[in-house]
This record gives sequence, C-alpha cells and structure tokens, in this order.
Amino acid sequence: MKKVILVNGSPRKNQNTAKMCESFACGVKEAGGEAEIVHLYDIDFKGCRSCFSCKLKGGKNFGRCSFPDGLTPILDKISEADGLVIASPIYCSDVTGVTRCLIERLTFPFFEYKAGYPSIAPKKLKTAMIYTMNVSETLSNQMYTDMFDKTEFMITTVFEKPVRIFAYDTYQFYNYDKYVVEVFDKNEKLKHKEEQFPLDIKKAFEAGKTMIKNIENMHN
Ligand SMILES: Cc1cc2nc3c(=O)[nH]c(=O)nc-3n(C[C@H](O)[C@H](O)[C@H](O)COP(=O)(O)O)c2cc1C
Repeated sequence: MKKVILVNGSPRKNQNTAKMCESFACGVKEAGGEAEIVHLYDIDFKGCRSCFSCKLKGGKNFGRCSFPDGLTPILDKISEADGLVIASPIYCSDVTGVTRCLIERLTFPFFEYKAGYPSIAPKKLKTAMIYTMNVSETLSNQMYTDMFDKTEFMITTVFEKPVRIFAYDTYQFYNYDKYVVEVFDKNEKLKHKEEQFPLDIKKAFEAGKTMIKNIENMHN
C-alpha cells in the first residue's frame, strides 16, 4: 500500500490547516493509499544545527539528519514514504517557523555538494504543499508567490515539484466578537467559511486521490 505522510505545521490540531490535511488524507485513503498525519508542534525539535554529519566523508549518517531529537524518526519515516504533504498557515508572510525547521532538516542532507547538486534522497517523493492564510487569493498572488517558490526550492530539488493547494481568507478566531478585529468583516469571514472553505476542503480531498494515482502510475 502506498503511504503518504502529512505534516501539519500549524499549532492548532483542529482548525483550517489540520482540516485540509484530514481531507487530503481521506482522499489518499479513498484511492487505496495509507495516510498518516504528523502534528509538528507535538514534536520537540529545532532546525538544522550545522553539525554537517550528513556531509561527512565516509560518515555513517551521510545523506541523513541524525541529530538526536524528536524529529529524526519522523524524517526517517518520510524518507520511507511514497508521498509527502507539508501544510502550513502563513505566519508573518512565510510558513511557520517549525515548518521552516522541518524543511531544513529534511532537504539539506539530500542536497549533495557536487556539480549539479544531485539529490541523494532514497526516493523521489511525490509532494504537495497546503497553505492556509488570512489574505484573499488576489493579495496572496501579489504578496506571497515568491515566498512559495523559495519555500519549495529545496523540496523541488530533492523530491518532485510540489502541487499547491490553498485555503485563502480563512476563519481565524472561534468568535470574532471577542477579539479586536477591525480590518476584517466578521460576516464576510463567516460567509467565506461557509461557502468557500468546503470547496477548498474538497480540493484537498481530490489532491489526495490524485497523489495516490500519480504514485501508482510512477510504479507501473
Ligand atoms: C502569528 C500569526 C501570524 C499570521 N500572519 C499572517 C500573514 O502574514 N498573512 C496571512 O494571510 N495570514 C496570517 N495569519 C493568519 C493565518 O495564516 C490563518 O488564519 C491560518 O489559516 C491559520 O491556520 P490554522 O487555522 O490552521 O491555525 C497569521 C496568524 C498568526 C497566528
């Protein structure tokens, strides 16, 4: 059975990003695959420490991040999977800090410092990125397109180029009346949540099904 690991880079386990992950996972299962969601904020880890064990000549951990913390077994699990989904809310115009830390630890060891920077990842994983954010699609296109490209550069270098799935204009607060929010119209937010978010969830589901089909086609 083809396995997809989904990494939720949001601290919230039941909000927008997590729901998009769950829907993608349902799509994977519907298509006959196996899906596992990892909540990054549950794991005790930091970004790359620049120890360079992954680049040591003759080193037993060459091409692998071996730093002894909670992320290392997850990295090994990702390397053995067939597909990878990295999901993150946008925080301060970027993916969350922990998502960034994961990308450093996952991709740098597979990026060999040789001519052409060949990938030494054990598998050329099918990948997808899920981004959720407060801003509209129009603003996202104006503000974040370069950031998405940069975020995905190393992923594309060592695995396959990610498919992008978005949820824009997300519903951020449980109750908009309890918080100081003057720049967003709570009624517009609610309307978007009720009308558009279910469509975004459906897109994630379809993308999950497609990932499994693409993995199977690759093996046939
Ligand atoms: C610290 C912080 C920073 C944020 N920065 C941005 C931002 O720069 N752009 C944006 O569109 N949304 C921003 N947001 C909103 C979240 O990206 C958005 O609500 C997201 O869907 C939350 O995902 P979640 O429901 O899975 O936690 C920010 C939220 C937080 C908590």
